[in-house]
Amino acid sequence: MRIADAPPGGRSDWLAGELRRAIADGRLPVGSRLPATRVLAADLRVSRGLVTEAYQRLREDGQVAGRGRGGTVVVAAPVTAGPGPGGGRAPVAPPAPPATPPPAPPVPLAVPFTTPPGSDLYDTLRAAPARIDLSPGLPDLASFPRAAWLRAERAVLGALPAASLGYGDPRGTPELRQAVVHWLARNRGIRAAPDDVVIVAGTAQALGLITQVLHRAGITGIAVEDPGSLGARQHLRHWGADTPPVPVDADGIRVDALRASGARAVLLTPAHQFPTGVVLGGSRRRALLGWAAATGGLIIEDDYDAEHRYDRPPVPALRSLLADRVWYAGSVSKLLAPALRVGWLLAPPRYRDALVDAKRFADLGNAVLPQLVLAHLMESGELERLVRQVRRRHRVRRDAVTAAVRRHLPQATVHGAAAGLHLMISFPPTAPPDTALAAAALARGVKTHPLTWHTQRPYGRPGLVLGYAARTPGELADGVALLGEALREAGTGAGPTA
Ligand SMILES: Cc1ncc(COP(=O)(O)O)c(C=O)c1O
Repeated sequence: MRIADAPPGGRSDWLAGELRRAIADGRLPVGSRLPATRVLAADLRVSRGLVTEAYQRLREDGQVAGRGRGGTVVVAAPVTAGPGPGGGRAPVAPPAPPATPPPAPPVPLAVPFTTPPGSDLYDTLRAAPARIDLSPGLPDLASFPRAAWLRAERAVLGALPAASLGYGDPRGTPELRQAVVHWLARNRGIRAAPDDVVIVAGTAQALGLITQVLHRAGITGIAVEDPGSLGARQHLRHWGADTPPVPVDADGIRVDALRASGARAVLLTPAHQFPTGVVLGGSRRRALLGWAAATGGLIIEDDYDAEHRYDRPPVPALRSLLADRVWYAGSVSKLLAPALRVGWLLAPPRYRDALVDAKRFADLGNAVLPQLVLAHLMESGELERLVRQVRRRHRVRRDAVTAAVRRHLPQATVHGAAAGLHLMISFPPTAPPDTALAAAALARGVKTHPLTWHTQRPYGRPGLVLGYAARTPGELADGVALLGEALREAGTGAGPTA
Protein backbone atom coordinates (compact mmCIF):
# COMPACT_ATOMS: atom_id res chain seq x y z
CA MET A 1 0.00 0.00 0.00
CA ARG A 2 1.56 3.30 -1.04
CA ILE A 3 -0.21 6.39 0.14
CA ALA A 4 1.65 8.27 -2.59
CA ASP A 5 -0.68 6.46 -5.08
CA ALA A 6 -3.75 8.09 -3.54
CA PRO A 7 -5.41 10.87 -5.53
CA PRO A 8 -5.23 14.24 -3.78
CA GLY A 9 -8.32 14.86 -1.67
CA GLY A 10 -9.45 11.24 -1.83
CA ARG A 11 -7.06 9.50 0.54
CA SER A 12 -9.61 7.86 2.80
CA ASP A 13 -11.47 6.58 -0.30
CA TRP A 14 -8.21 5.27 -1.61
CA LEU A 15 -7.43 3.53 1.67
CA ALA A 16 -10.96 2.05 1.87
CA GLY A 17 -10.51 0.78 -1.72
CA GLU A 18 -7.14 -0.81 -0.87
CA LEU A 19 -8.66 -2.54 2.15
CA ARG A 20 -11.61 -3.76 0.08
CA ARG A 21 -9.20 -5.24 -2.42
CA ALA A 22 -7.25 -6.92 0.36
CA ILE A 23 -10.47 -8.43 1.71
CA ALA A 24 -11.59 -9.50 -1.77
CA ASP A 25 -8.34 -11.24 -2.66
CA GLY A 26 -8.00 -12.99 0.68
CA ARG A 27 -5.08 -11.01 2.12
CA LEU A 28 -7.50 -9.96 4.85
CA PRO A 29 -9.70 -13.06 5.25
CA VAL A 30 -13.05 -13.06 7.03
CA GLY A 31 -12.35 -13.19 10.76
CA SER A 32 -9.05 -11.33 10.55
CA ARG A 33 -8.48 -8.15 12.50
CA LEU A 34 -7.64 -4.87 10.84
CA PRO A 35 -4.61 -3.08 12.27
CA ALA A 36 -5.38 -0.63 15.05
CA THR A 37 -6.11 2.78 13.51
CA ARG A 38 -3.19 4.28 15.44
CA VAL A 39 -0.78 1.65 14.10
CA LEU A 40 -1.92 1.88 10.47
CA ALA A 41 -1.91 5.67 10.61
CA ALA A 42 1.69 5.62 11.87
CA ASP A 43 2.70 3.06 9.21
CA LEU A 44 1.19 5.11 6.40
CA ARG A 45 2.16 8.46 7.92
CA VAL A 46 -1.38 9.76 7.71
CA SER A 47 -3.75 11.07 10.34
CA ARG A 48 -5.62 8.63 12.51
CA GLY A 49 -8.87 10.34 11.44
CA LEU A 50 -8.22 9.36 7.83
CA VAL A 51 -7.82 5.69 8.78
CA THR A 52 -10.91 5.85 11.01
CA GLU A 53 -12.91 7.27 8.11
CA ALA A 54 -11.76 4.47 5.79
CA TYR A 55 -12.74 1.87 8.40
CA GLN A 56 -16.10 3.58 8.77
CA ARG A 57 -16.73 3.16 5.02
CA LEU A 58 -16.10 -0.56 5.28
CA ARG A 59 -18.35 -0.72 8.32
CA GLU A 60 -21.14 0.96 6.35
CA ASP A 61 -20.57 -1.52 3.53
CA GLY A 62 -21.04 -4.36 6.03
CA GLN A 63 -17.54 -5.71 5.35
CA VAL A 64 -16.07 -5.09 8.80
CA ALA A 65 -17.54 -4.75 12.26
CA GLY A 66 -16.30 -3.20 15.49
CA ARG A 67 -15.68 -5.77 18.22
CA GLY A 68 -14.94 -3.40 21.13
CA ARG A 69 -11.56 -4.32 22.57
CA GLY A 70 -11.29 -7.02 19.90
CA GLY A 71 -10.73 -4.23 17.35
CA THR A 72 -12.22 -4.09 13.87
CA VAL A 73 -12.79 -7.47 12.30
CA VAL A 74 -13.51 -8.53 8.70
CA VAL A 75 -17.00 -10.03 8.64
CA ALA A 76 -17.85 -10.37 4.95
CA ALA A 77 -16.00 -10.59 1.67
CA PRO A 78 -17.54 -8.77 -1.29
CA VAL A 79 -19.42 -10.76 -3.91
CA THR A 80 -16.99 -11.13 -6.79
CA ALA A 81 -17.46 -12.67 -10.18
CA GLY A 82 -15.36 -15.72 -10.72
CA PRO A 83 -13.17 -16.52 -13.68
CA GLY A 84 -15.22 -16.16 -16.78
CA PRO A 85 -15.15 -14.68 -20.21
CA GLY A 86 -13.42 -11.38 -19.94
CA GLY A 87 -13.45 -11.63 -16.17
CA GLY A 88 -10.58 -13.77 -15.03
CA ARG A 89 -11.02 -12.78 -11.40
CA ALA A 90 -10.59 -15.24 -8.60
CA PRO A 91 -11.45 -16.49 -6.09
CA VAL A 92 -15.19 -16.79 -6.26
CA ALA A 93 -16.75 -15.57 -3.06
CA PRO A 94 -20.23 -16.95 -2.45
CA PRO A 95 -22.94 -14.33 -2.67
CA ALA A 96 -23.86 -12.92 0.72
CA PRO A 97 -27.02 -14.59 2.01
CA PRO A 98 -30.01 -12.35 1.46
CA ALA A 99 -31.19 -10.73 4.66
CA THR A 100 -34.77 -11.53 3.72
CA PRO A 101 -36.33 -14.59 2.12
CA PRO A 102 -35.99 -14.73 -1.67
CA PRO A 103 -39.15 -14.26 -3.70
CA ALA A 104 -41.25 -17.32 -4.11
CA PRO A 105 -40.94 -19.10 -7.44
CA PRO A 106 -43.94 -18.57 -9.68
CA VAL A 107 -46.79 -20.89 -8.73
CA PRO A 108 -50.13 -21.35 -10.50
CA LEU A 109 -52.46 -18.41 -10.16
CA ALA A 110 -54.92 -18.59 -7.34
CA VAL A 111 -56.44 -15.16 -7.87
CA PRO A 112 -57.17 -13.33 -11.08
CA PHE A 113 -54.67 -10.61 -11.96
CA THR A 114 -56.24 -7.54 -13.46
CA THR A 115 -55.32 -3.98 -14.29
CA PRO A 116 -52.91 -4.17 -17.19
CA PRO A 117 -51.23 -0.80 -17.71
CA GLY A 118 -53.52 1.37 -19.79
CA SER A 119 -56.67 0.40 -17.95
CA ASP A 120 -58.65 2.88 -15.87
CA LEU A 121 -57.65 1.56 -12.48
CA TYR A 122 -53.98 1.76 -13.39
CA ASP A 123 -54.32 5.37 -14.49
CA THR A 124 -56.35 6.23 -11.41
CA LEU A 125 -53.88 4.66 -9.04
CA ARG A 126 -50.84 6.16 -10.69
CA ALA A 127 -52.11 9.71 -10.92
CA ALA A 128 -54.01 9.86 -7.64
CA PRO A 129 -52.64 12.14 -4.93
CA ALA A 130 -52.08 10.40 -1.63
CA ARG A 131 -51.54 11.48 1.94
CA ILE A 132 -48.76 8.91 2.33
CA ASP A 133 -47.10 8.14 -0.96
CA LEU A 134 -45.16 4.89 -0.81
CA SER A 135 -44.50 4.73 -4.55
CA PRO A 136 -40.99 3.41 -5.18
CA GLY A 137 -38.26 5.44 -6.84
CA LEU A 138 -37.45 8.39 -4.60
CA PRO A 139 -34.59 9.03 -2.19
CA ASP A 140 -35.09 11.29 0.82
CA LEU A 141 -35.63 14.53 -1.07
CA ALA A 142 -35.51 16.57 2.12
CA SER A 143 -31.80 15.67 2.32
CA PHE A 144 -31.00 17.41 -0.95
CA PRO A 145 -27.82 19.40 -0.21
CA ARG A 146 -29.18 22.85 -1.00
CA ALA A 147 -26.39 24.75 0.74
CA ALA A 148 -23.64 22.65 -0.83
CA TRP A 149 -25.27 22.96 -4.23
CA LEU A 150 -25.46 26.76 -3.91
CA ARG A 151 -21.82 26.97 -2.79
CA ALA A 152 -20.73 24.81 -5.72
CA GLU A 153 -22.86 26.78 -8.17
CA ARG A 154 -21.37 30.04 -6.97
CA ALA A 155 -17.85 28.67 -7.31
CA VAL A 156 -18.59 27.30 -10.79
CA LEU A 157 -20.20 30.50 -12.06
CA GLY A 158 -17.42 32.62 -10.64
CA ALA A 159 -14.83 30.74 -12.65
CA LEU A 160 -16.85 30.05 -15.78
CA PRO A 161 -15.42 31.49 -19.02
CA ALA A 162 -18.07 33.02 -21.29
CA ALA A 163 -17.22 30.51 -24.01
CA SER A 164 -18.53 27.70 -21.79
CA LEU A 165 -22.03 29.12 -22.16
CA GLY A 166 -22.18 28.23 -25.84
CA TYR A 167 -23.13 24.88 -27.36
CA GLY A 168 -21.11 22.23 -25.63
CA ASP A 169 -19.98 18.72 -26.42
CA PRO A 170 -23.09 16.52 -26.82
CA ARG A 171 -21.34 13.92 -24.67
CA GLY A 172 -21.35 16.31 -21.71
CA THR A 173 -18.77 18.59 -20.14
CA PRO A 174 -15.26 17.20 -19.79
CA GLU A 175 -15.41 18.05 -16.07
CA LEU A 176 -18.45 15.88 -15.37
CA ARG A 177 -17.30 13.03 -17.59
CA GLN A 178 -14.01 12.99 -15.69
CA ALA A 179 -15.82 13.15 -12.35
CA VAL A 180 -18.04 10.23 -13.40
CA VAL A 181 -14.95 8.21 -14.34
CA HIS A 182 -13.53 8.78 -10.86
CA TRP A 183 -16.89 8.03 -9.24
CA LEU A 184 -17.31 4.77 -11.13
CA ALA A 185 -13.76 3.69 -10.28
CA ARG A 186 -14.23 4.45 -6.59
CA ASN A 187 -17.74 3.17 -6.14
CA ARG A 188 -18.46 0.60 -8.85
CA GLY A 189 -15.07 -0.87 -9.76
CA ILE A 190 -15.43 0.33 -13.35
CA ARG A 191 -12.39 1.47 -15.29
CA ALA A 192 -13.27 3.89 -18.04
CA ALA A 193 -11.95 6.98 -19.78
CA PRO A 194 -13.88 10.24 -20.06
CA ASP A 195 -14.35 9.50 -23.77
CA ASP A 196 -16.37 6.41 -22.81
CA VAL A 197 -18.94 8.47 -20.89
CA VAL A 198 -22.00 10.22 -22.29
CA ILE A 199 -23.95 12.43 -19.88
CA VAL A 200 -27.68 11.87 -20.38
CA ALA A 201 -30.98 13.04 -18.92
CA GLY A 202 -31.29 10.08 -16.56
CA THR A 203 -31.70 6.38 -17.19
CA ALA A 204 -34.97 7.13 -18.93
CA GLN A 205 -33.14 8.91 -21.73
CA ALA A 206 -30.39 6.30 -21.69
CA LEU A 207 -32.95 3.60 -22.45
CA GLY A 208 -34.39 5.60 -25.33
CA LEU A 209 -30.95 6.22 -26.84
CA ILE A 210 -29.92 2.59 -26.49
CA THR A 211 -33.12 1.41 -28.13
CA GLN A 212 -32.59 3.74 -31.09
CA VAL A 213 -28.95 2.73 -31.54
CA LEU A 214 -29.74 -0.97 -31.32
CA HIS A 215 -32.70 -0.60 -33.67
CA ARG A 216 -30.37 0.83 -36.31
CA ALA A 217 -28.07 -2.12 -35.73
CA GLY A 218 -30.98 -4.49 -36.42
CA ILE A 219 -31.73 -5.39 -32.79
CA THR A 220 -35.42 -4.75 -32.22
CA GLY A 221 -36.07 -6.79 -29.10
CA ILE A 222 -34.66 -6.16 -25.62
CA ALA A 223 -35.49 -8.86 -23.10
CA VAL A 224 -36.43 -7.60 -19.64
CA GLU A 225 -36.63 -9.08 -16.19
CA ASP A 226 -40.00 -10.37 -15.04
CA PRO A 227 -40.86 -9.04 -12.51
CA GLY A 228 -39.08 -5.93 -13.75
CA SER A 229 -39.55 -2.18 -13.82
CA LEU A 230 -42.74 -1.13 -15.58
CA GLY A 231 -41.27 2.31 -16.23
CA ALA A 232 -38.18 0.91 -17.94
CA ARG A 233 -40.32 -1.41 -20.06
CA GLN A 234 -42.57 1.46 -21.08
CA HIS A 235 -39.56 3.49 -22.23
CA LEU A 236 -38.20 0.62 -24.33
CA ARG A 237 -41.58 0.03 -25.89
CA HIS A 238 -42.11 3.71 -26.59
CA TRP A 239 -38.96 3.65 -28.70
CA GLY A 240 -40.14 0.60 -30.56
CA ALA A 241 -38.47 -2.35 -28.84
CA ASP A 242 -40.20 -5.62 -28.05
CA THR A 243 -39.67 -6.54 -24.42
CA PRO A 244 -39.91 -10.31 -24.02
CA PRO A 245 -40.03 -11.27 -20.33
CA VAL A 246 -37.37 -13.44 -18.72
CA PRO A 247 -38.21 -14.81 -15.26
CA VAL A 248 -36.33 -13.76 -12.15
CA ASP A 249 -35.85 -16.10 -9.20
CA ALA A 250 -33.96 -15.94 -5.91
CA ASP A 251 -30.62 -15.61 -7.77
CA GLY A 252 -31.76 -12.98 -10.25
CA ILE A 253 -32.50 -13.34 -13.93
CA ARG A 254 -32.80 -16.95 -15.20
CA VAL A 255 -30.00 -17.15 -17.76
CA ASP A 256 -31.27 -20.50 -19.06
CA ALA A 257 -34.56 -18.81 -19.96
CA LEU A 258 -32.71 -15.86 -21.49
CA ARG A 259 -30.71 -18.25 -23.65
CA ALA A 260 -33.88 -20.08 -24.68
CA SER A 261 -35.59 -16.80 -25.61
CA GLY A 262 -33.10 -16.14 -28.39
CA ALA A 263 -32.90 -12.48 -27.31
CA ARG A 264 -29.88 -10.53 -28.52
CA ALA A 265 -30.00 -7.93 -25.76
CA VAL A 266 -31.26 -7.87 -22.20
CA LEU A 267 -31.95 -5.08 -19.71
CA LEU A 268 -31.33 -5.93 -16.10
CA THR A 269 -30.78 -4.53 -12.61
CA PRO A 270 -28.07 -6.86 -11.28
CA ALA A 271 -27.01 -5.01 -8.11
CA HIS A 272 -30.54 -4.76 -6.69
CA GLN A 273 -33.19 -6.25 -8.89
CA PHE A 274 -36.24 -4.08 -9.36
CA PRO A 275 -38.66 -4.82 -7.75
CA THR A 276 -37.71 -8.04 -5.93
CA GLY A 277 -34.41 -6.71 -4.54
CA VAL A 278 -32.40 -9.88 -5.22
CA VAL A 279 -28.71 -9.62 -6.10
CA LEU A 280 -27.58 -11.41 -9.24
CA GLY A 281 -25.75 -14.41 -7.74
CA GLY A 282 -22.14 -15.33 -8.56
CA SER A 283 -22.91 -18.34 -10.77
CA ARG A 284 -25.67 -16.41 -12.57
CA ARG A 285 -23.21 -13.60 -13.29
CA ARG A 286 -20.79 -16.03 -14.79
CA ALA A 287 -23.57 -17.67 -16.82
CA LEU A 288 -24.78 -14.27 -18.03
CA LEU A 289 -21.31 -13.13 -19.03
CA GLY A 290 -20.83 -16.52 -20.69
CA TRP A 291 -24.09 -15.99 -22.63
CA ALA A 292 -22.93 -12.56 -23.79
CA ALA A 293 -19.49 -13.78 -24.83
CA ALA A 294 -20.76 -16.90 -26.60
CA THR A 295 -23.71 -15.39 -28.44
CA GLY A 296 -22.57 -11.80 -28.90
CA GLY A 297 -25.50 -10.85 -26.68
CA LEU A 298 -25.64 -7.38 -25.17
CA ILE A 299 -26.29 -6.62 -21.51
CA ILE A 300 -27.83 -3.31 -20.49
CA GLU A 301 -26.93 -2.80 -16.85
CA ASP A 302 -29.33 -0.45 -15.06
CA ASP A 303 -27.37 0.39 -11.91
CA TYR A 304 -30.14 2.58 -10.58
CA ASP A 305 -29.60 2.42 -6.80
CA ALA A 306 -26.34 0.55 -6.29
CA GLU A 307 -24.99 3.09 -3.80
CA HIS A 308 -27.79 2.41 -1.33
CA ARG A 309 -27.05 -0.75 0.61
CA TYR A 310 -27.35 -1.50 4.30
CA ASP A 311 -26.66 -5.10 5.28
CA ARG A 312 -24.56 -6.38 2.45
CA PRO A 313 -21.29 -5.58 0.73
CA PRO A 314 -21.21 -3.81 -2.62
CA VAL A 315 -21.59 -5.92 -5.72
CA PRO A 316 -19.22 -5.12 -8.57
CA ALA A 317 -20.85 -3.79 -11.71
CA LEU A 318 -21.07 -6.17 -14.68
CA ARG A 319 -19.50 -3.44 -16.79
CA SER A 320 -16.32 -3.84 -14.73
CA LEU A 321 -16.08 -7.42 -15.99
CA LEU A 322 -17.05 -7.27 -19.66
CA ALA A 323 -16.95 -3.74 -21.05
CA ASP A 324 -17.20 -5.01 -24.63
CA ARG A 325 -20.72 -6.28 -24.23
CA VAL A 326 -22.20 -4.22 -21.41
CA TRP A 327 -24.03 -0.93 -21.71
CA TYR A 328 -23.91 0.72 -18.29
CA ALA A 329 -26.47 3.29 -17.11
CA GLY A 330 -26.36 5.22 -13.84
CA SER A 331 -27.95 8.43 -12.65
CA VAL A 332 -28.20 10.85 -9.75
CA SER A 333 -31.95 10.29 -9.44
CA LYS A 334 -31.48 8.01 -6.42
CA LEU A 335 -28.35 9.75 -5.15
CA LEU A 336 -29.64 13.31 -5.10
CA ALA A 337 -32.96 13.89 -6.85
CA PRO A 338 -34.71 12.76 -10.03
CA ALA A 339 -35.52 16.41 -10.78
CA LEU A 340 -31.91 17.03 -11.79
CA ARG A 341 -32.35 14.72 -14.79
CA VAL A 342 -28.68 13.80 -14.96
CA GLY A 343 -27.24 10.39 -15.59
CA TRP A 344 -24.39 8.71 -17.44
CA LEU A 345 -24.24 6.05 -20.06
CA LEU A 346 -21.28 3.96 -21.16
CA ALA A 347 -21.65 2.06 -24.43
CA PRO A 348 -19.66 -0.94 -25.58
CA PRO A 349 -16.86 0.54 -27.73
CA ARG A 350 -18.44 -0.47 -31.04
CA TYR A 351 -21.60 1.56 -30.28
CA ARG A 352 -19.86 4.61 -28.85
CA ASP A 353 -20.06 6.84 -31.92
CA ALA A 354 -23.63 5.86 -32.69
CA LEU A 355 -24.57 6.74 -29.12
CA VAL A 356 -22.97 10.18 -29.38
CA ASP A 357 -24.92 10.81 -32.60
CA ALA A 358 -28.17 9.72 -30.96
CA LYS A 359 -27.55 12.07 -28.03
CA ARG A 360 -26.67 14.93 -30.36
CA PHE A 361 -29.88 14.53 -32.31
CA ALA A 362 -31.91 14.12 -29.12
CA ASP A 363 -30.98 17.44 -27.54
CA LEU A 364 -27.42 18.60 -28.41
CA GLY A 365 -26.33 17.58 -24.92
CA ASN A 366 -27.39 18.13 -21.30
CA ALA A 367 -27.54 21.60 -19.75
CA VAL A 368 -24.02 22.70 -18.85
CA LEU A 369 -24.40 24.44 -15.48
CA PRO A 370 -25.87 21.54 -13.49
CA GLN A 371 -23.19 19.29 -14.96
CA LEU A 372 -20.44 21.57 -13.70
CA VAL A 373 -22.01 21.89 -10.27
CA LEU A 374 -22.39 18.15 -10.00
CA ALA A 375 -18.80 17.60 -11.11
CA HIS A 376 -17.71 19.98 -8.35
CA LEU A 377 -19.68 18.05 -5.72
CA MET A 378 -18.38 14.72 -6.97
CA GLU A 379 -14.73 15.69 -7.17
CA SER A 380 -14.73 17.47 -3.80
CA GLY A 381 -15.96 14.34 -2.02
CA GLU A 382 -19.11 16.16 -0.96
CA LEU A 383 -21.42 13.77 -2.80
CA GLU A 384 -19.89 10.72 -1.18
CA ARG A 385 -20.23 12.33 2.24
CA LEU A 386 -23.85 13.05 1.48
CA VAL A 387 -24.51 9.50 0.31
CA ARG A 388 -23.08 8.15 3.56
CA GLN A 389 -25.28 10.46 5.60
CA VAL A 390 -28.38 9.67 3.59
CA ARG A 391 -27.66 5.96 3.80
CA ARG A 392 -27.90 6.14 7.59
CA ARG A 393 -31.22 7.93 7.34
CA HIS A 394 -32.55 5.46 4.78
CA ARG A 395 -31.52 2.55 6.98
CA VAL A 396 -33.61 3.93 9.87
CA ARG A 397 -36.56 4.19 7.48
CA ARG A 398 -35.99 0.69 6.16
CA ASP A 399 -36.03 -0.58 9.74
CA ALA A 400 -39.22 1.38 10.44
CA VAL A 401 -41.06 -0.03 7.45
CA THR A 402 -39.98 -3.63 8.07
CA ALA A 403 -41.01 -3.37 11.75
CA ALA A 404 -44.38 -1.98 10.69
CA VAL A 405 -44.88 -4.79 8.16
CA ARG A 406 -44.10 -7.39 10.82
CA ARG A 407 -46.63 -5.76 13.12
CA HIS A 408 -49.50 -4.92 10.77
CA LEU A 409 -49.04 -7.41 7.91
CA PRO A 410 -47.74 -10.54 9.62
CA GLN A 411 -48.82 -12.70 6.68
CA ALA A 412 -46.52 -10.78 4.29
CA THR A 413 -43.01 -11.85 3.28
CA VAL A 414 -40.49 -9.03 2.90
CA HIS A 415 -38.10 -9.15 -0.08
CA GLY A 416 -35.04 -7.14 -0.92
CA ALA A 417 -34.72 -5.02 2.20
CA ALA A 418 -30.90 -5.23 2.41
CA ALA A 419 -30.40 -2.43 -0.10
CA GLY A 420 -32.17 0.18 -2.15
CA LEU A 421 -34.94 2.66 -1.54
CA HIS A 422 -37.89 0.31 -1.68
CA LEU A 423 -38.81 -3.20 -0.69
CA MET A 424 -41.32 -5.70 -1.92
CA ILE A 425 -43.83 -7.61 0.16
CA SER A 426 -45.66 -10.65 -1.08
CA PHE A 427 -48.76 -12.32 0.32
CA PRO A 428 -49.95 -15.92 0.29
CA PRO A 429 -51.62 -16.84 -3.03
CA THR A 430 -55.00 -16.83 -1.30
CA ALA A 431 -54.78 -13.12 -0.45
CA PRO A 432 -56.83 -10.65 -2.50
CA PRO A 433 -55.37 -9.42 -5.81
CA ASP A 434 -52.71 -6.80 -5.25
CA THR A 435 -54.53 -4.29 -7.46
CA ALA A 436 -57.57 -4.53 -5.18
CA LEU A 437 -55.29 -4.13 -2.21
CA ALA A 438 -53.59 -1.07 -3.71
CA ALA A 439 -57.00 0.44 -4.52
CA ALA A 440 -58.23 -0.18 -0.96
CA ALA A 441 -55.03 1.39 0.40
CA LEU A 442 -55.45 4.42 -1.83
CA ALA A 443 -58.98 4.91 -0.52
CA ARG A 444 -57.26 5.31 2.86
CA GLY A 445 -54.73 7.79 1.50
CA VAL A 446 -51.79 5.41 1.00
CA LYS A 447 -50.27 4.90 -2.43
CA THR A 448 -48.25 1.80 -3.33
CA HIS A 449 -47.42 -0.09 -6.50
CA PRO A 450 -49.14 -3.44 -6.95
CA LEU A 451 -46.58 -6.00 -8.04
CA THR A 452 -48.80 -6.83 -11.01
CA TRP A 453 -47.74 -3.56 -12.66
CA HIS A 454 -44.18 -4.77 -12.74
CA THR A 455 -44.91 -8.21 -14.15
CA GLN A 456 -45.71 -9.41 -17.63
CA ARG A 457 -46.57 -12.93 -16.60
CA PRO A 458 -48.39 -14.04 -13.45
CA TYR A 459 -46.07 -14.05 -10.46
CA GLY A 460 -48.25 -16.41 -8.49
CA ARG A 461 -48.55 -14.26 -5.38
CA PRO A 462 -50.05 -10.85 -4.87
CA GLY A 463 -47.44 -8.33 -3.81
CA LEU A 464 -46.82 -4.66 -3.23
CA VAL A 465 -43.77 -2.53 -3.88
CA LEU A 466 -43.22 0.00 -1.09
CA GLY A 467 -40.88 2.96 -1.44
CA TYR A 468 -39.73 4.00 2.03
CA ALA A 469 -36.71 6.28 1.60
CA ALA A 470 -38.70 9.48 1.03
CA ARG A 471 -41.04 9.03 4.00
CA THR A 472 -40.45 9.62 7.71
CA PRO A 473 -40.57 6.68 10.15
CA GLY A 474 -43.88 8.03 11.46
CA GLU A 475 -45.42 8.15 7.99
CA LEU A 476 -44.15 4.65 7.32
CA ALA A 477 -45.70 3.30 10.51
CA ASP A 478 -49.04 5.00 9.73
CA GLY A 479 -48.97 3.98 6.08
CA VAL A 480 -48.35 0.31 6.80
CA ALA A 481 -51.00 0.29 9.56
CA LEU A 482 -53.47 1.56 6.95
CA LEU A 483 -52.28 -1.12 4.54
CA GLY A 484 -53.15 -3.68 7.20
CA GLU A 485 -56.66 -2.26 7.34
CA ALA A 486 -56.83 -2.24 3.55
CA LEU A 487 -55.82 -5.89 3.41
CA ARG A 488 -58.58 -6.82 5.82
CA GLU A 489 -61.08 -4.78 3.82
CA ALA A 490 -59.96 -6.15 0.44
CA GLY A 491 -60.24 -9.65 1.89
CA THR A 492 -63.84 -9.11 2.95
CA GLY A 493 -64.98 -6.78 0.19
CA ALA A 494 -65.95 -4.14 2.78
CA GLY A 495 -65.34 -0.44 2.16
CA PRO A 496 -63.13 1.79 4.27
CA THR A 497 -64.56 2.46 7.70
CA ALA A 498 -62.55 5.55 8.57
C1 LIG B 1 -35.52 0.41 -12.41
C2 LIG B 1 -35.20 1.86 -12.52
N1 LIG B 1 -34.17 2.25 -13.26
C3 LIG B 1 -33.84 3.55 -13.37
C4 LIG B 1 -34.54 4.52 -12.72
C5 LIG B 1 -34.07 5.95 -12.79
O1 LIG B 1 -34.49 6.61 -13.86
P1 LIG B 1 -33.95 8.07 -14.13
O2 LIG B 1 -32.46 8.03 -13.98
O3 LIG B 1 -34.37 8.38 -15.52
O4 LIG B 1 -34.59 8.99 -13.15
C6 LIG B 1 -35.66 4.18 -11.98
C7 LIG B 1 -36.47 5.22 -11.31
O5 LIG B 1 -37.43 4.97 -10.65
C8 LIG B 1 -35.98 2.80 -11.85
O6 LIG B 1 -37.01 2.41 -11.09
